[in-house]
Amino acid sequence: MIYGNKEGIRDSLLAKLETLYDIEIPAEVFAPAELLDVLAAFTCAINREISIYVSRSGEVLDITIGGVSSVELKDMHLRRNTKRLSMVRCIHTHPGGNPQLSDVDISSLRAMRFDAMAAVGAKDGHATGIQAAFLGEYVGGMNRVHLTEVAPVYKLPQRAWMDAIERADGEVLIGAPNTTKEDQERAFLVGLDSDESLLELARLAETAGAQVIGTMLQRKTRPDTATYIGSGKADELSLACQAREADVVIFDDELSGVQTRNLEEILHGAKVIDRTTLILDIFAQRAQSREGRLQVELAQMAYQLPRLLGHGVAMSRLGGGIGTRGPGETRLEMDRRRIRRRMSDLRREIDDLSGQRNLRRAKREKNKVPVVALVGYTNAGKSTLLNTFSGADVLAEDKLFATLDPVVRTVKMPAGGEFLLVDTVGFISKLPHALVDAFHSTLEEALLADVLLVISDGASGEMIHQHDVVLEVLASLGAADKPKIDVINKADLPDVNANKWPGAIAVSAKTGKGLDELLEAIRLKLRGAARLMRALIPYAQGGLLAKLHEDGQVLSEEYTGEGIEVKALADEQLFGRLTVQLGEQAVSWQDD
Ligand code: GTP
Repeated sequence: MIYGNKEGIRDSLLAKLETLYDIEIPAEVFAPAELLDVLAAFTCAINREISIYVSRSGEVLDITIGGVSSVELKDMHLRRNTKRLSMVRCIHTHPGGNPQLSDVDISSLRAMRFDAMAAVGAKDGHATGIQAAFLGEYVGGMNRVHLTEVAPVYKLPQRAWMDAIERADGEVLIGAPNTTKEDQERAFLVGLDSDESLLELARLAETAGAQVIGTMLQRKTRPDTATYIGSGKADELSLACQAREADVVIFDDELSGVQTRNLEEILHGAKVIDRTTLILDIFAQRAQSREGRLQVELAQMAYQLPRLLGHGVAMSRLGGGIGTRGPGETRLEMDRRRIRRRMSDLRREIDDLSGQRNLRRAKREKNKVPVVALVGYTNAGKSTLLNTFSGADVLAEDKLFATLDPVVRTVKMPAGGEFLLVDTVGFISKLPHALVDAFHSTLEEALLADVLLVISDGASGEMIHQHDVVLEVLASLGAADKPKIDVINKADLPDVNANKWPGAIAVSAKTGKGLDELLEAIRLKLRGAARLMRALIPYAQGGLLAKLHEDGQVLSEEYTGEGIEVKALADEQLFGRLTVQLGEQAVSWQDD
């Protein structure tokens, strides 16, 4: 279907124009030159503007004859959230040959929040050139606009313009006014677990930018395989959602592809997402570093892959909002094969980056600066503590998962010496596996630390449960045996019970209360972490000496008749490993 003013245009020409809907534009291509030339030829033939609208996944959504301002875009389900881009780019022609964007073009770019607005000059049956504009940060009541140079269509910097869209995704959020209630997605929450779990889901939904308009708790020990809550309950839910005009229904557990499809059918039109998709969405909005963004994209794909139905093509999520965002947004509609290919590319890139990080870490280890990592449930106050300790200005927000990328700061101890303090991503119950895997290299920072500070939110009624979750996640990462200090934060607030665990230290990251005591505990733990030991390594197992150099600090080595006699500083773990490999007789502590 061709839209707009078709008056006086021959049907055969319209039919030809319609074939342009079949074009699939690859993800890294802004607009194929051949397509632009064809559009220019049509434009010259009818002497009217032609606009085409292309989705992030490269699909031609709409072809309209007439100026951009006159286009009706209702049917395209552009995003409701006014802060973000619409995920659709507009490419249109200028009869007369001038490829420069007009003021009208720029204002419709702003009004429709297009991914990009591009104009193609059309003269003598050919394209004379193309210019594009992208939205930037919000200043003085409107978004800045970045204009490109006019490019010949055959030399259009395809990749760079697609990158510009990705950049615009982030830039438009800068300085954007707070979303009003009308802009927010209206979310209805459904769980089987407990009120507490639903409450946390509500906080997650709000963090993702939605407005919670209702909840439903269906006590059930096992989710229904077809509809999660059972078909009777699902019908009830459908009525409740219609009555309250829910845009999205969020389920408190992971849903299978079949459950999602069935529920979408029953809930006519409301978007169905699960807790993991929601968490991934928050991560997607927050990842700042290149590594963080790649990790989120990998996690999103890993999660999506087993949930693809039918021909293996993911559901079209052009509507935008929760569940559609992310560095991989452009690729959310790929098929299985392409997803797999992209995942292996991502893994390679992440490996490269973590290789660089290993290098930095190796340097650090060479300098023997001890590392202390902050771990804890999301919102426990890790970032605030890092700020207070180091005077760093790290984002601390009353939102879940403010911290996604590892932040490292140096802290000087009053008694002399210093350590590196590493912030890590917040933990949460039902932490998606895909995420733990994808963020493994980030969490490794914590695993390689000498001491873990386990931060608990003393003000939370769920503190004990949250502490359990943190220990579980640490165990699943293989860090159960790390030296730890339990810290109960927010001790400035009334009713904070600081005596939950023996040895826990109560602090207030906000007021600085208890921090001296904590520093002293860290100092003692760090000293305790590395103790003096001796080992006799037989020449046949000489490789262990290199290991000891790597993981401990070798103070002396002496080559004797029986083997290498080594004195070294090592922690309990290293000591334990050597004992297993060399036998108890060959290894002993020297400082008892
Ligand atoms: P994630 O990034 O989600 O892992 O969170 P986080 O653990 O880094 O928490 P963050 O430092 O962002 O703090 C969460 C909220 O708790 C913020 O609103 C802080 O202001 C508040 N907060 C942190 N420490 C204290 C404290 O000692 N006392 C009080 N009253 N509030 C605190």
